[in-house]
Amino acid sequence: MDTKTLMEWSSRYHTPNYGRSPILLVRGEGTRVWDSEGREYLDFTTGIAVTALGHCHPVVTGAIREAAATLLHVSNIFHTAPQIHLAKMLVEHSFADRVFFCNSGAEANEAALKLARKYGKEKLASDRYEVIATHNSFHGRTLATVTATGQPKYQHGFEPLMPGFKHVPYNDLRAMERAIDSHTAAILVEPIQGEGGVHVPDDDYLPGLRKLCDESGALLIFDEIQTGMGRTGRLWGYEHSGVEPDVMTLAKALANGVPIGAMLCRESAASVLTAGSHGSTFGGTPFVTSVALATLTTLIGEKLPERAARLGRELMDSLRRLQASNPRIKDVRGRGLLIGIELDKPAAPVMDACRESGLLVLTAGEKVLRLAPPLVAQPTEIARALDILTDVLGKAAG
Ligand SMILES: Cc1ncc(COP(=O)(O)O)c(C=O)c1O
Repeated sequence: MDTKTLMEWSSRYHTPNYGRSPILLVRGEGTRVWDSEGREYLDFTTGIAVTALGHCHPVVTGAIREAAATLLHVSNIFHTAPQIHLAKMLVEHSFADRVFFCNSGAEANEAALKLARKYGKEKLASDRYEVIATHNSFHGRTLATVTATGQPKYQHGFEPLMPGFKHVPYNDLRAMERAIDSHTAAILVEPIQGEGGVHVPDDDYLPGLRKLCDESGALLIFDEIQTGMGRTGRLWGYEHSGVEPDVMTLAKALANGVPIGAMLCRESAASVLTAGSHGSTFGGTPFVTSVALATLTTLIGEKLPERAARLGRELMDSLRRLQASNPRIKDVRGRGLLIGIELDKPAAPVMDACRESGLLVLTAGEKVLRLAPPLVAQPTEIARALDILTDVLGKAAG
């Protein structure tokens, strides 16, 4: 089928809720993808921080083949070895004691929010159900997670939203302290706001939230759906802060592109999820957990978080040098290979120009270009991306 016809069918048959770039991708390998016209691109979007090991990583592809030929799906009314091994590995490499598996980031956050309500009612007081989230956050598209998301543009038209949520400015401990009251069950934050524009909080922010939760009894929930799996230069984003959450949500890179979500928590919180209180048909199938095990084993075994830290530092240093000579760049920020370049004008045309030059990048908010290359990107690929960015941003400034 020719590309033009497929594009026409796309606009005719899909619901119109995505703003898509006008290319049709057909193949990927490592940091590169190809479109239907044979054009090659450097993929610094990684499916929005999903394919951390790059496209079609041989270990991941091998695990997919083997798992598909062994046991694709059985219900959670049975035990399966890959799910148990993955839960054990996540526990051994994090603060958590227990893991619940689901299929996406929004579902992982739904699980965390339901856990927070049940924990609040059963362990704190019958009217402790409220969750405090932050302005500019992103937590997903289901009704509860879009309510938790602190951006009206994602909520518009879907009202009435869910009761039991409050929002305060991000990186503002005083505002959070003022917002906590006798109804608070949990605080929900991203260790770095990704979709909201790649905002890294001050060093005392996450420790300050930990202290507020310890004093009030509320659960501290970190949404690591974008920051987890080595993206920020440590396995989990919270590791930069010196404190640990009570609950953490994961998805995106956990199985390098095969849909999965996970909610990790401490024993005291997990105990409220009694048999039958929550569940998911597809959550943690032997197929996806085999793929996630292969992904996590490779990520840890090949020390990819450390690699992300090093490559990210070098890339950010180069971008800051570019900033010094380009008035369009207002700020360069991020951690590891989650990088935001704030411009003085809308970022979407710059993203389009990068694509025309063979580099796929993301936006985050109106004026921020977001880079999320695979953690396995080669230095030559990063150098090439930098050349394209220098050229495109140079023309934008000229
Ligand atoms: C921090 C964060 N939380 C939650 C989500 C929602 O994940 P999903 O699209 O898998 O539901 C995202 C997706 O971008 C995210 O970045």
